Amino acid sequence: MSEDVQGQAAEESESSESSEVTIAVHWREEGYYPPPPKFIGQANASDPAILDRFAEANFPECFREYAELLHWDEYWHTTLDTSNPPFWKWFAGGKLNASYNCVDRHLAQDRNKAALIWVPEPEDAADTVITYQELYRRVNEFAAVLQDLGLQAGDRVTLHMPMVPELPVTMLACARLGVVHSQVFVGFSGGACGHRIADSDSTILITMDAYYRSGDLLDHKVKADEAVEAARKEGTEVEKVLVWRRFPGQYSAKTPMVEGRDVFVDELLADHKGAVVEPVSMPAEAPLFLMYTSGTTGRPKGCQHSTGGYLSYVAGTSKFYQDIHPEDTYWCMADIGWITGHSYIVYGPLALGTTSVIYEGTPNYPDAGRPWRIAERLGVNIFHTSPTAIRMLRKVGPDEPAKYNYHFKHMTTVGEPIEPEVYRWYFSTVGKGEAVIVDTWWQTETGGFIGTGLPALFAMKPGSCGPAALGIYLDILDENGDPIPRGSGKAGNIVARNPWPGIFQTIWGQPERFVSTYFAKYNKDPDSKDWHDWPYFAGDGAVQTEDGYFRILGRVDDVINVAGHRLGTKELESSALAVQEVAEAAAVPVIDDVRGRAVEMYISLKPGYSADSGVEAKVKAAIETDIGKIARPKNIWVVPDMPKTRSGKIMRRVIAATSNFADVGDITTLANPEVVEQIRHQVQNAKHAKGEVPRELTEAEEAEIMSFGSE
Ligand code: WTA
Repeated sequence: MSEDVQGQAAEESESSESSEVTIAVHWREEGYYPPPPKFIGQANASDPAILDRFAEANFPECFREYAELLHWDEYWHTTLDTSNPPFWKWFAGGKLNASYNCVDRHLAQDRNKAALIWVPEPEDAADTVITYQELYRRVNEFAAVLQDLGLQAGDRVTLHMPMVPELPVTMLACARLGVVHSQVFVGFSGGACGHRIADSDSTILITMDAYYRSGDLLDHKVKADEAVEAARKEGTEVEKVLVWRRFPGQYSAKTPMVEGRDVFVDELLADHKGAVVEPVSMPAEAPLFLMYTSGTTGRPKGCQHSTGGYLSYVAGTSKFYQDIHPEDTYWCMADIGWITGHSYIVYGPLALGTTSVIYEGTPNYPDAGRPWRIAERLGVNIFHTSPTAIRMLRKVGPDEPAKYNYHFKHMTTVGEPIEPEVYRWYFSTVGKGEAVIVDTWWQTETGGFIGTGLPALFAMKPGSCGPAALGIYLDILDENGDPIPRGSGKAGNIVARNPWPGIFQTIWGQPERFVSTYFAKYNKDPDSKDWHDWPYFAGDGAVQTEDGYFRILGRVDDVINVAGHRLGTKELESSALAVQEVAEAAAVPVIDDVRGRAVEMYISLKPGYSADSGVEAKVKAAIETDIGKIARPKNIWVVPDMPKTRSGKIMRRVIAATSNFADVGDITTLANPEVVEQIRHQVQNAKHAKGEVPRELTEAEEAEIMSFGSE
């Protein structure tokens, strides 16, 4: 690590801002569910010998087993190169192409097998089945288009695409050329997309004119214009906007195309019929894609994932944890715009040559039976989704699964802690008691699962993700870096003591933030080239029970996990602060029975403005424009003043406690303790009137609220 990187690392104390999570957490110990024998009989990993192969004594060479699932143009010479910590290089010297691995190599055996089955949202529309041969044709033709535009290995391209097969086609076409794709979640605003275009310095934006969401065909092209404008403000000029059409040949958006800048992809493709583009052999450590996520500061982090390490890791974890066999029909009901979709809709399943289902719309459209009808019709046997989707489907259609004749062998949950009660419904009603549930703890940064049990070898326990994944050595540390013994009932910061192939390589353009956020907290010697000295700080609080299982409690930083999507409080607050009337803003989480957490925003106004000026609507609109509808706060409270420390910092935990009807804790150190009672009165009365009084919090939830926000 260079000196100036270290200097900046010391200054930027994102990680050290995390508050003490070393709070005793007690919860009812849940019982185990053994995996059904039928599952064990067919599982990819059913011999416990695999645990020995991945034991610490065999690290890092154990990960050859993952890498060998791929085709390499050149074999690597060093499995793990630690010469520039913590910028690890996996499979150094190796060369491969991700598109070749996900498409071409399956042609010999499986050219007529479905690679993707796309289910459009309107239920009367036919599915699109894309065989490996057809995927090969589409990826090659689109790669030819990109090549024609002058794109080369290492260039960045921003995608802002919905859940259509053109999205994986676009990703794989980029990968074929070594072009780094950066897909922005389609629900994000044009402004948020523009921000990411500028951050990654993309000069090409790839989008689609429209897509279906809850029954409406939404005009999406309008966001491209906003994105180009936002990027321009930050000094990045988008030269071309490539517009796929939801219905080829027919334009479904109202926004006009911009002459010279915007082009229809179907028209460009017409000139490249039957084109074949040789996959570019890329070094293992070449970046494959960027995936932006939120952190403590307002600037999103472009997590850079590698080609060789990442692809090996998602292939290996798809095989052993998703238990994907080539003959399975696998459906991950998540969005490709998040890491889950990249790793476990596109790259992992396709690297293994299976059939991956893509669904365009909302799970409960037109009704809560939709997912189960899709599963029945397509013969889905592996199902993967988030606790938010499970809670929602349970709420609106608790008896729906029983009406459909589908059989899952395996189900996944990802992205948020799942309450044992919800878990039990997932197991008994959705899984009909026949399927294992794999609770997978991981992050955008980790590339793939890092906390989860092998389904045939570890019994399930509701609410726990299970033990560490193969080849990952997880620990829970206190604020001093000392391990908290398992079974002590104490929570701490979960860390991975070692690197693994799927870990992101850096934050695009912010290497110092990569070091300071994820490694500085527990690194004792910045000059050490030994990986043992560089534990990865995940930013989650967790406890470990006697049996070695981990229970993830939630973020320890200023990030709010809404429906499995990470929103940075600073991003939300800076949007609010851009509204003329607003003097101060603070975003806090409230416990929400469907979405896990929701955001509430507190604002105080500049002198001379009054609370009835319609400022709430302006703040809502600003957040929708800057981030997107998913970030829209549940409530905006205009308060006379914020509770502050004597040094003027807003005490977010006090506000969070107020919103959640929790104990505000010690407020004697506040500069203005009297305001706490005033706010409590105002907010809680309003909530009573709206019927929004939350249920009693669990101890873990209370602990999270009590420690929310850096102080
Ligand atoms: C949370 C999603 C409990 C956690 C793949 C993490 C979870 C953040 C789980 C990452 C789980 C993810 N149980 N909490 N199984 N999985 N989380 O980057 O707080 O969108 O840090 O990646 O989600 O969210 P991200």
